[in-house]
Amino acid sequence: MSFDRSVKIAPSILSADFADFGREIRAVEAQGADWIHVDVMDGHFVPNLTFGPPAVKAFRKHVKTVMDVHLMIAPVDPYIDAYADAGTDILTAHVEAGPHTHRTLQAIRAAGMKAGVALNPGTPAQAVEHLLDLTDLVCVMTVNPGFGGQKFIDMTDKIRALRAMIGDRPIHIEIDGGVTPDTAPLVVEAGADVLVAGSAVFRGGSVENPAPYGENIRAIRASVAGTAAA
Ligand code: DX5
Ligand code: ZN
Repeated sequence: MSFDRSVKIAPSILSADFADFGREIRAVEAQGADWIHVDVMDGHFVPNLTFGPPAVKAFRKHVKTVMDVHLMIAPVDPYIDAYADAGTDILTAHVEAGPHTHRTLQAIRAAGMKAGVALNPGTPAQAVEHLLDLTDLVCVMTVNPGFGGQKFIDMTDKIRALRAMIGDRPIHIEIDGGVTPDTAPLVVEAGADVLVAGSAVFRGGSVENPAPYGENIRAIRASVAGTAAA
């Protein structure tokens, strides 16, 4: 994976048909997705439950782009090798998931993956300041994690602080939650380059009728065209 700060759209398959993940992934990639965002929830760190390593390994066979796995689980460390074995490109853990995020990020890289760290809305940018040398992606949550389709929480001041903190380092800033053509320009202007979008991509379409996925992706892209990243 080469690094660049161009805007990438990462549809979250949390909003896909749970009985048809393979075809949904292929459909959304054919319609222009840059990455595939996979939301793993444990019913403990967040009040919802999705899937685990065997399912993610099965998704991998269908992902031609980048498999971006967002762990909303605690603890993280016992499962790192399983997500590497599943073919994960980027593995993101929450800084709130345990006391030893530094060790977690080291372990993710040691297992051969890019390491991401996610921040809940209530967690300040400074929580990752001493982790940046171990980090390939910072995920700024713009909803409280657990569910798709929630209302965007404005975190632009946090994104700006992170962008300044990151400087020239090759670290992505990913935004997750409530991204739409209305909110995307705000976060890109503040310095984000990866936009996760679930409901705003999958709404109106299906594997039988995937054209709306493409229209929705293009609408988000068009909304940020000409927006100068910070
Ligand atoms: C929330 C998940 C998000 C979610 C985004 O816990 O991490 O990835 O699916 O969904 P939308 O785009 O519908 O807000
Ligand atoms: Zn996510």
